[in-house]
Amino acid sequence: MKNKKQPIALVIGSSSGIGRATLTYLAEKNFLVIGISRNILEMQKIQDMLEKKGQACYYYSCDITDTNVLLSTFESIHKRFKKIDLFVFSAGIMPLSLLRDGKIEEWNNMINTNLTAFLHSINFVLPIFRKYNHGHFFSISSTASEKICNGAGVYAATKSAMNCIMKHLNFEEKDTQIKFTTISPGTVNTNLYKSISEIKFRNEAFQRERNEGIEPIDIAKIIFFLYQQTKNTVVSELKITPVNQGL
Ligand SMILES: NC(=O)c1ccc[n+]([C@@H]2O[C@H](COP(=O)([O-])OP(=O)(O)OC[C@H]3O[C@@H](n4cnc5c(N)ncnc54)[C@H](OP(=O)(O)O)[C@@H]3O)[C@@H](O)[C@H]2O)c1
Repeated sequence: MKNKKQPIALVIGSSSGIGRATLTYLAEKNFLVIGISRNILEMQKIQDMLEKKGQACYYYSCDITDTNVLLSTFESIHKRFKKIDLFVFSAGIMPLSLLRDGKIEEWNNMINTNLTAFLHSINFVLPIFRKYNHGHFFSISSTASEKICNGAGVYAATKSAMNCIMKHLNFEEKDTQIKFTTISPGTVNTNLYKSISEIKFRNEAFQRERNEGIEPIDIAKIIFFLYQQTKNTVVSELKITPVNQGL
């Protein structure tokens, strides 16, 4: 049963990597956590693990590129929980490829996951935050948005667009108490490389993530730290990279 004072966190992309680490870390910090992702088995494992420790976790299996399913998932969450205190959009894919190879289906899927679903999330979360004049909205962008990475033309564009939307959100909501933070990680040790179909790019990303990447928990801890800041303080943009990444 939900304790009325317990803060509620909704994490999209919660079955793996940064989203998973954030969901579990926030549960440890006494949040009631709600996760969204496609992998039910993984989410069930996470829920079992958290419930064994007495932590409250709910999850919704949803392909966020299916707009109707996403909207009905949001509706169910709203009916059940009403309020959200902390929101993290961490879902993302990075199917790297050269533009001349014209992987249109991968581009569309990437845009639908990284950008369109992100916009739908704003449309869901913002009215709830505005109703209570409270809430912290985190988006997980990437340092790829500001440099040239081989094969990352469309990926970087989705992250640049996310940054741009976050800046506008911040501006549009400046008369409210709602906080917006864009986190741009460098390389992180996650499963992101798995979304790459091009074998060369996939192997390179795998090596980079495993050999150089920071751990997702490092980002989770920073998200919690930022959430805890005083009412009048917000960090709106933050880069978190391995020490040797040179950014
Ligand atoms: N890893 C890095 O080096 C790095 C660096 C900079 C930025 N980022 C960004 O960090 C964010 C998190 O990625 P990660 O590194 O943690 O990768 P990850 O381990 O692959 O996690 C990605 C998450 O997104 C979810 N997701 C992907 N497509 C989805 C869909 N169609 N519907 C629902 N959920 C979906 C996945 O869940 P399911 O598969 O269960 O659906 C998973 O939980 C991404 O936006 C990524 O661009 C990562």
